[in-house]
Amino acid sequence: MDILELIKTRRSIRKYKQDPIPEEEINKILEAGRWAPSASNRQPWSFIVLRSEETKRKLAETLTWGGFLSQAPLGIAVVINPRASNHPVEDGAAATQNMLLEAHSLGLGACWIGAYGSVNEESAKDILNVPDDERLLSVIVIGRPAESPQSTRRKLDEITFSDRYGRR
Ligand SMILES: Cc1cc2nc3c(=O)[nH]c(=O)nc-3n(C[C@H](O)[C@H](O)[C@H](O)COP(=O)(O)O)c2cc1C
Repeated sequence: MDILELIKTRRSIRKYKQDPIPEEEINKILEAGRWAPSASNRQPWSFIVLRSEETKRKLAETLTWGGFLSQAPLGIAVVINPRASNHPVEDGAAATQNMLLEAHSLGLGACWIGAYGSVNEESAKDILNVPDDERLLSVIVIGRPAESPQSTRRKLDEITFSDRYGRR
C-alpha cells in the first residue's frame, strides 16, 4: 500500500479478536519503533512488550481511557529517558506512530493510549517497574481488529498557511 494510503486508512481500534499475535509480527512492530527518527539520533526509548494477562489487566485498570487493554492480546509500552535527549517526547511519539503504522500495515488494529503527564502515569510506571527518572509516554494496544470505526480530519485549507502564520 502507498504510504499516504496507509496513513489515511489507519484508525484507532479498540475492539479485538482474541487471536494471538505471532512473534514475527511483534518484532516487525518493534523494528518500526526502533527506526523512528529522534533528536541527534539519541533513541531515548525502550519498549516493554505486554503479553501477561495480569499486567495488561492491572494497567487497563489504572489507565483511565485504556480499559480495553485488558481485552487485547498485546500491548507495547513506550518508555522515554528524559536525560538521553533534548526532545524525548517527540522522539517517543515518533516511535509510537511508527509502530501504529506498522501494525496497520500488518492488518492489525492498534490504539495509542496517552500516559505521559496523565494522573495515572506514576501508577502505570509502578506496575511496569519503570525507573523513577524515566517516563511512560504511551501504551500501544494491539490485536486483530473487531471493529471498523470512521474518523475525520480538519480540512487542509483550514490548517495550512503560506509563508507566514495566518496567510492563506
Ligand atoms: C497522544 C495521544 C493520546 C491518546 N490517548 C488515547 C487514550 O488514552 N485512549 C484512547 O482510546 N485513544 C487515545 N488516543 C487515540 C485518539 O483518540 C485517536 O487517534 C483520535 O480520536 C483520532 O482517531 P483515529 O486514530 O482513528 O484517526 C490517543 C491519541 C494520541 C495521539
